[in-house]
Amino acid sequence: MKTTDNFAPLANGSDGREFEFTPADFRRISGLIYERAGIVLSPVKSDMVYNRLSRRLRHHGLSSFAEYIGLLTQRDGAEWGAFIGALTTHLTSFFREEHHFPILSAHLAERREAETIHLWSCATSTGEEPYSMAVTAAETFGSLHPPVSILATDVDNGVLALAREGVYPVDSVRHLPERIQKRYFQWGSGRNKGFVKVRAELQSMITFQAFNLLAPVWPMKEQYDAIFCRNVMIYFDRPTQERILVRSRRQLKHDGLYFVGHSENLNHAEHLFHPCGRTVYRTRAVSPS
Ligand SMILES: C[S@@+](CC[C@H](N)C(=O)[O-])C[C@H]1O[C@@H](n2cnc3c(N)ncnc32)[C@H](O)[C@@H]1O
Repeated sequence: MKTTDNFAPLANGSDGREFEFTPADFRRISGLIYERAGIVLSPVKSDMVYNRLSRRLRHHGLSSFAEYIGLLTQRDGAEWGAFIGALTTHLTSFFREEHHFPILSAHLAERREAETIHLWSCATSTGEEPYSMAVTAAETFGSLHPPVSILATDVDNGVLALAREGVYPVDSVRHLPERIQKRYFQWGSGRNKGFVKVRAELQSMITFQAFNLLAPVWPMKEQYDAIFCRNVMIYFDRPTQERILVRSRRQLKHDGLYFVGHSENLNHAEHLFHPCGRTVYRTRAVSPS
């Protein structure tokens, strides 16, 4: 009997998978993601790689990972952002690891005489982190125009586009105090019901830019009063972490603060940073040689 349901895409791979994906493809992909983003993928991640990149193959109408690798390495580089984006997690939230924000606030208050206080969120994802920094600045100075400038960067242009837009499901702000929800977010109605938009004043504090922490040259002219480098180092191996930390230290003012994620620590970089709170660090003075 013929049925019209239970249709599935025609399997191309010899193992019955939709796309051909060989161990050699996996090795090539893990080499490329390591070169491009410093991300280390162990073989246990093979299924995750298959599942996440399959979407990119479908998007381009390809039938094998070998073709996808060809597209990635031969074209003008437009696919790299999506490739890295597909293999990393963008998990973030407003006031994630909330113990950091009172520390940031006290740090800002100590600098209230400064003309501009410079902050950097260097793996900003969809923007909740820099917007939380902006809310903290506005609260600290009691003004929607505090003397604070925030650089927010990420390797993935896709998440940066969402961050720039500043539109989020209402559930993402429900855990914030009602006063903060009302003061810093506009509530959507009609087609936008169920969403909030960050106030324009907060957005104007932030510059969103694509930046790969593995870039051979860091073009920032500024030294920052604080850097948030949270929940990204976990992807990198030790030599890559060390390179990023050396550069971050140069980018931080001598009395600046360096914030890391809950499962990260800088115990292996004691020559560069010393702890001054839970997952917060200060630069270590360079000893005169
Ligand atoms: C888990 S999110 C962290 C978001 C935010 N910092 C937080 O803690 O909530 C990790 C982010 O790091 C970004 N990322 C991964 N590799 C990167 C690299 N080499 N340079 C810059 N950003 C990178 C990813 O695109 C992703 O948005």
